Amino acid sequence: MAYLPIFFHLFVLHLFIITLLHSPFPTFAAACTCSNGIETDRLALLAIKAQVIKDPHGILSSWNDSLHCCNWTGLNLELNHFHNVIPQEIGHLFRLKYLNLSNNSFSGEIPSNLSVCSSLIWLRLGFNKLIGKIPFQLGSLQKLERVQLHYNNLSGLLPSSIGNLSSVKSLSLAVNSLEGKIPDSLGRLKNLEFLGLGLTFWYGHNLFTGPLPTSLSNASNLLEFDTNGSDFTGKITVDFGGLTSLWWLVLASNSLGTGEADDLSFFNSLSRCRNLQILDLSDNQFGGVLPNSISNFSNQLVSLRL
Ligand SMILES: *[C@@H]1O[C@H](CO)[C@@H](O)[C@H](O)[C@H]1NC(C)=O
Ligand SMILES: *[C@@H]1O[C@H](CO)[C@@H](O)[C@H](O)[C@H]1NC(C)=O
Ligand SMILES: *[C@@H]1O[C@H](CO)[C@@H](O)[C@H](O)[C@H]1NC(C)=O
Ligand SMILES: *[C@@H]1O[C@H](CO)[C@@H](O)[C@H](O)[C@H]1NC(C)=O
Ligand SMILES: *[C@@H]1O[C@H](CO)[C@@H](O)[C@H](O)[C@H]1NC(C)=O
Ligand SMILES: *[C@@H]1O[C@H](CO)[C@@H](O)[C@H](O)[C@H]1NC(C)=O
Ligand SMILES: *[C@@H]1O[C@H](CO)[C@@H](O)[C@H](O)[C@H]1NC(C)=O
Ligand SMILES: *[C@@H]1O[C@H](CO)[C@@H](O)[C@H](O)[C@H]1NC(C)=O
Ligand SMILES: *[C@@H]1O[C@H](CO)[C@@H](O)[C@H](O)[C@H]1NC(C)=O
Ligand SMILES: *[C@@H]1O[C@H](CO)[C@@H](O)[C@H](O)[C@H]1NC(C)=O
Repeated sequence: MAYLPIFFHLFVLHLFIITLLHSPFPTFAAACTCSNGIETDRLALLAIKAQVIKDPHGILSSWNDSLHCCNWTGLNLELNHFHNVIPQEIGHLFRLKYLNLSNNSFSGEIPSNLSVCSSLIWLRLGFNKLIGKIPFQLGSLQKLERVQLHYNNLSGLLPSSIGNLSSVKSLSLAVNSLEGKIPDSLGRLKNLEFLGLGLTFWYGHNLFTGPLPTSLSNASNLLEFDTNGSDFTGKITVDFGGLTSLWWLVLASNSLGTGEADDLSFFNSLSRCRNLQILDLSDNQFGGVLPNSISNFSNQLVSLRL
C-alpha cells in the first residue's frame, strides 16, 4: 500500500461513514449497548488506520462492522511496519485492555490521551522509535500491569506519577535516553516484580543518576531488577531484606559506591534474599572489604560478579 498522506484520514473517515450508512449489518448500531462508544471507537481506529504504510498481514481488515464495538478490548499490531505517530485519538478507545504496538516503527511521542484508556492492563510499545517524555498522565492508569517501553528513544525524567501505577507488575524502560533521579514514588509499587531500567540484553543508554531510591525496600514483590549501564551513584541504602523473591539483581556499570569501607554493608540485607540467583555489581566504585554476610548468601546463587 502506498503512503497515506494526512488528508487521507478524512477521506477514510468519510468513506467509513458512507459504509456505515449502507452497512450490510443494519442491526449493528442498534444492537450496540455501549452508549456513545461506537462512534468514538471508530474514530480512534480510523486514526490509527491512517498511520499505516503497510499492512502485510491484513490485520486491519478485521476492523469491520461484524465485530461488535464492545468486544474491541485488545489491539494487537505487533511485528508490523506501522509508522508515523500514535494518534491522540487512541484515547477514545477507553475500553481497551491490551495495547500491543511493539516491534513497529511508531515515531513521535507517547500520546498523553492514552491515559483516558483507564481499562488498560497491558501496554506494549517496545521496539519502536518513540521520542519525548513519558507522559505524566500515564500514572492514572490504575489497572496497568505490564508496561513495556523498552527500546525506544524516550528522554527526560521518569515522572513521579509512575508511582501511581498501583497494579503494575512489570516496568521495562531499558534502552532509552531517560535520565535523572528515579522518583521515590517507585517504592509505592507494591506489586512490582520486574523493573528494567538498564541495558538488559540490548544496547542503548539510559542515564539515570543519583542514588537508588531507598523506597525500593518496599517493593516487596520484586523478582528482577536490572539497571546495567546507567549512571547511578552513591551508597546503596536499599534494605533488600524484605525483597524475598528477588532472583535477578544487576547493578553493573554504574557509579555506585563511594569508595568507603562500609559501601557493601547492604550485603547484610541482601543475604536474606534466599532466591537470589544472579548478582552483578561489577564496574562500580564500591570500596571496603567483602562483608562476612556473603557467606550467608543464597545457595541458589549461580552467577556472582563483583
Ligand atoms: C470482518 O472481520 C472478521 C474477522 O477477521 C472476518 O471473519 C469477517 O469475514 C469480516 N467481515 C467482513 C464483512 O469483512
Ligand atoms: C463479544 O464476544 C463474545 C465472545 O466472542 C460473544 O459471546 C458476545 O456476544 C460478544 N458481545 C457482543 C455485544 O457482541
Ligand atoms: C499482546 O502480546 C502478548 C505477548 O505477545 C500476548 O500474550 C497478548 O495476547 C497480546 N494481546 C493481544 C490483545 O493480542
Ligand atoms: C485528548 O483528550 C482531551 C481531554 O480528554 C480531549 O479534549 C481531546 O479531544 C483529546 N484529543 C483527541 C485528538 O482525541
Ligand atoms: C522485536 O524486535 C527485536 C529487535 O529486532 C527482536 O529481537 C525481537 O525478537 C522482536 N520481538 C518479537 C516478539 O519478535
Ligand atoms: C535520541 O534522542 C536524542 C534527543 O533526545 C537525540 O539527540 C538522539 O540523536 C536520539 N538517538 C537516536 C538513536 O535516535
Ligand atoms: C499521581 O502522582 C503524583 C505525583 O507522585 C501526585 O501528585 C498525584 O496526585 C497522583 N495522582 C493520582 C490520581 O493519584
Ligand atoms: C551488561 O551490559 C553489558 C554491555 O554493556 C553486557 O556485556 C553484559 O552482559 C550485561 N550484563 C547483564 C547481566 O546483562
Ligand atoms: C515503606 O512504606 C511505608 C508505608 O507506606 C513507609 O512508611 C516507609 O517510609 C516506606 N519505606 C521506605 C524506605 O520508603
Ligand atoms: C548468617 O545468618 C545467620 C542466621 O540468620 C545469622 O545468625 C548470622 O549472624 C549470619 N552471619 C553473618 C556473617 O552475617
